[in-house]
Amino acid sequence: MRTSTSIAVFFLGAVSLAPVFAQESARETYPFFPSLINTSSGNPVASKRFMDPALCQGCHGEIFDQWQGSMHSFAFPDPVFQALWRLASEETGGLTDILCAGCHTAIGTVSEEVVFEGGEFRVSEIARKGVQCDLCHSISASSFLKTPTHLPQNASIIVDPGVVKRGPYDDSVSPFHECAYSELHTTSEFCGNCHNVFHPVTNFHIENTYSEWKFSVYAQKGIQCQDCHMMPVEKAIEVARTLEKPKNPGKASIMGPERDQVYTHEFVGANYTVTSLLGSDRHAEIARERLKGAAEVEILAPESAQKGGLVTVKVKVTNVGAGHNLPTSLTEVRQMWLDVSVKDASGVEIFRSGALDAAGNIDEEAVIFNAHAVTQDGHHTVRPWEIARFEYNRTIPPKGSAREKYSFLVPHNAHGPLAVEATLRYRSYPQSMADMLLGDEAPVLPVVDMARKEVQIVI
Ligand code: HEC
Ligand code: HEC
Ligand code: HEC
Ligand code: HEC
Ligand code: HEC
Repeated sequence: MRTSTSIAVFFLGAVSLAPVFAQESARETYPFFPSLINTSSGNPVASKRFMDPALCQGCHGEIFDQWQGSMHSFAFPDPVFQALWRLASEETGGLTDILCAGCHTAIGTVSEEVVFEGGEFRVSEIARKGVQCDLCHSISASSFLKTPTHLPQNASIIVDPGVVKRGPYDDSVSPFHECAYSELHTTSEFCGNCHNVFHPVTNFHIENTYSEWKFSVYAQKGIQCQDCHMMPVEKAIEVARTLEKPKNPGKASIMGPERDQVYTHEFVGANYTVTSLLGSDRHAEIARERLKGAAEVEILAPESAQKGGLVTVKVKVTNVGAGHNLPTSLTEVRQMWLDVSVKDASGVEIFRSGALDAAGNIDEEAVIFNAHAVTQDGHHTVRPWEIARFEYNRTIPPKGSAREKYSFLVPHNAHGPLAVEATLRYRSYPQSMADMLLGDEAPVLPVVDMARKEVQIVI
């Protein structure tokens, strides 16, 4: 599936940017370029060298049940990913195929079996299972010190499938496989290899979750991605509040001893849309809980106001629970916004900002926390391969806050007191994007209310 066309043309159409690294020399370091994934031998490995998660299930049943239905298990079949992957392939003549595959089906990538035929991507059964047990536990190193940015990015992992399963223990014994201690698995760098998506030509940081974490108080305190995303949600919320590592004793295998610490495998972030679409309501429910533990809303308003007078209220949103910006990753797509209303005592609406219209679009004047991605020519885009820069990036850093001002006139006929309500709302994608990518299959996108506050003003 590799193509010989120069990588520089795959992007932005109009402007020809000199390639940051020419394709041929890049291939010496990264044989699966533009993905930075590699194998320990530097050669492709057959997908049958990876074991199916069902084989692990017998002895690691609990972990299997947690993983099954996670976004990692859906990283290949996810219909939103599939639709954008196909569009990317069509618009770039296939140059993005392997880039995207490197993270969404790493096994399909290193086995070089990704085929685009008749408008569909095809891989073997094992490669369809996305980010799975034997992929993660065969990761033997990260090559991030050698990437163009010296940060983990674009699947900068080395995989070495075989009899050795790498993990957090230095004393474990299994009758089925060898065990090896891997410090990498206990750090955010492990996750960051796939959770930093940079444009392969310009290295523009499109998805930046690892880097946001790296420069946060969580990194300073030694709190890793695993401490929140591989822990039950109540414990993750405690981690954010106390900045202390969680404790979660249990068993790693039905055949193993009681352990002081086991990490769970649901890998839930915020995606309740695709998890419920593909049939995992349990993961969707945890995603809603995580979103609800992520932010706090406060309203700063005067205690009283005059009829006919101008009132200004401030709404403060604080990222209390996420170890990275809020929202993170596909910030050019995700929508987190403030819905603010003022009603008088008889229920008449005096002011509103952030309502949804009948077509599901958010009020254009609403305060929305996201990034506005543009092409080289400055046109708005949600196609990651076209993104040249963010015109603005308005997300809330870990433990940081945003303050927004709203002003309204109190009508002379208003009945007191006034009720000011502010709700922080989240949606995985704009309705228009879901409609574009999924056509008739597109569901009406559900919204989650992350946090809400109400105060009264006497008039
Ligand atoms: C995204 C990568 C990833 C996937 C997929 C994954 N694991 Fe893990 N697993 C990890 C990491 C990372 C740790 C160690 C976390 C730590 O100690 O900080 C771990 C820990 C473990 C452990 C040690 C006990 C524990 O839970 O801490 C076992 C056993 C294990 N995984 C088995 C599995 C099995 C079986 C599957 C598939 C059903 C699986 N893993 C899927 C990354 C993964
Ligand atoms: C470096 C790894 C990496 C690469 C390369 C990558 N992705 Fe992803 N992708 C991710 C991760 C991680 C997420 C999950 C982020 C999240 O949900 O917040 C994701 C999520 C997505 C989603 C959102 C899915 C959903 O259900 O909301 C789409 C769509 C997507 N990727 C498309 C692509 C396309 C198209 C490409 C190639 C042009 C690509 N990705 C390349 C890692 C990658
Ligand atoms: C026949 C039972 C059995 C099967 C099948 C099995 N394991 Fe294990 N595994 C164990 C036992 C027992 C341990 C040790 C648990 C302990 O010490 O707490 C273990 C430990 C592990 C560890 C921790 C290694 C470490 O030292 O940190 C990982 C990772 C792991 N298994 C992954 C897998 C994966 C991936 C599969 C499927 C490809 C799998 N296992 C299949 C029994 C099994
Ligand atoms: C081999 C690449 C890879 C590795 C390693 C990896 N991830 Fe992921 N992760 C992905 C991809 C791809 C997706 C998105 C699937 C989609 O949306 O279609 C994802 C999705 C997620 C999600 C769900 C996001 C959402 O919107 O709900 C979380 C949470 C997550 N990963 C956390 C982690 C953590 C924590 C680690 C490290 C222990 C890790 N990942 C390691 C590739 C990876
Ligand atoms: C202090 C706890 C905490 C830590 C540490 C943390 N996260 Fe998160 N993460 C959250 C919460 C809460 C959410 C849900 C709110 C949101 O979307 O940001 C989330 C959401 C996500 C999402 C989904 C974003 C979306 O909107 O699609 C991804 C992907 C993710 N985290 C990956 C990571 C990775 C990778 C790391 C480590 C580099 C990490 N997280 C560290 C708490 C944490």
